[in-house]
Amino acid sequence: MTNSRISGFYKLSLDERLDALQKATDVDDETLGTLLTSGLLTTQQADKMVENVVATHNLPLGIGLNFKINGVDRLIPMVIEEPSVVAGASFMAKLARAGGGFFATTSAPEMIGQIQVLDVANIHSAKLAIYEKREELLAIADNIDPILKKLGGGARDIEVRVIENSPIGEFLVLHLIYDVRDAMGANAVNTACEKLAPHLEKITGGRVHLKILSNLSDKRMARTRCVIPVDALKFDDYVGELVRDGIIEAYAFAAADPYRAATHNKGIMNGVDAVVIATGNDWRAIEAGAHAYAAKDGKYTSLSTWGKNDEGNLVGTLEMPMAVGIVGGATKVHPTAQAALRLMQVKTASELAEIIVSIGLAQNLAALRALATEGIQRGHMSLHARQVAIAAGAGDEMVELVAAQMVSEGMVRIDRAEEILKEK
Ligand code: MEV
Repeated sequence: MTNSRISGFYKLSLDERLDALQKATDVDDETLGTLLTSGLLTTQQADKMVENVVATHNLPLGIGLNFKINGVDRLIPMVIEEPSVVAGASFMAKLARAGGGFFATTSAPEMIGQIQVLDVANIHSAKLAIYEKREELLAIADNIDPILKKLGGGARDIEVRVIENSPIGEFLVLHLIYDVRDAMGANAVNTACEKLAPHLEKITGGRVHLKILSNLSDKRMARTRCVIPVDALKFDDYVGELVRDGIIEAYAFAAADPYRAATHNKGIMNGVDAVVIATGNDWRAIEAGAHAYAAKDGKYTSLSTWGKNDEGNLVGTLEMPMAVGIVGGATKVHPTAQAALRLMQVKTASELAEIIVSIGLAQNLAALRALATEGIQRGHMSLHARQVAIAAGAGDEMVELVAAQMVSEGMVRIDRAEEILKEK
């Protein structure tokens, strides 16, 4: 059992945080040790992951606190270079807790593979000819991965689409719907598509061109919602109703305007990507899927919604494709990714997707709350000031001093940090 509420975590030293994590979870010491030891991916391991390796590259890993998702506390590892994200998500998770936490679901882990069929004599007849062979095609695709099949995955369906008005005119596209269970699934789906290609040529008399997974994985959705009691929103001179309505107005901006929606969704992705990266998943795939989904109705819009319920409490929702896995690829090879999964105690890719979508919603709320009240810079400033102090050459003992002075002066700049350092 995990307790995700660790008060004062941010004030502890690195060693004290390890102790606090140990007390908050029954996860083994090796996992915690791995998380707190940076640079554990060796160059030898990295050399097996990509080409031309000469080094590895580290990023900060912080713990998202206070999360309760579907009634279960989760400590969430977040890998990110940007200040305020971990703190913002944790704080909003605390507010959401007061409303029961996050309530998340996922659809079946079904990915879409695309096969482009060109040079077909009669496109509509070819389309129906493919449907006539549906069972046969599914059986062929189903057999490419016996392990996946044993685990309950496999080919589920086909859909045939006519693409009109492309620069080369009309052509056919077959969508292969494939249940990939706990994998991200790209390899299984791409292999299945390649396997089907010659059969499609035979059925249609056409020429198969591309055979590749779609990152608009809108059959593999993650959804979450939260209720924030209006009283939990009040702070300083801001009454809860004002904060709530400000958040709803901020959401309306993103819902109606693509320029704002891009930034709004970027805030969601701050939380999402941090966990996707921590678990060794493909964040470009998640980004591509998210933004394509945000534009699926022809106009790019907000991935989340914010409104109020009958009691006047703030209600948030987020729905997005979530093609993440917990087996295979970097997830398997990278020791920190393995430790991250163990810390969250996830047993399935769906559970991971539910955590990720919830952290996205929390992060979105953190940004909107700040923007709708005191502005984003205030919260950013103290951490930013620390980074500026380090960049100006402040050693461990001077960072806090220099940063605090710059914040109190309202001037966070590298030249000022250098001056302060000289004065001290
Ligand atoms: C910054 O990384 C993210 C925000 O711009 C998101 C938003 O504007 O909603 C603060």
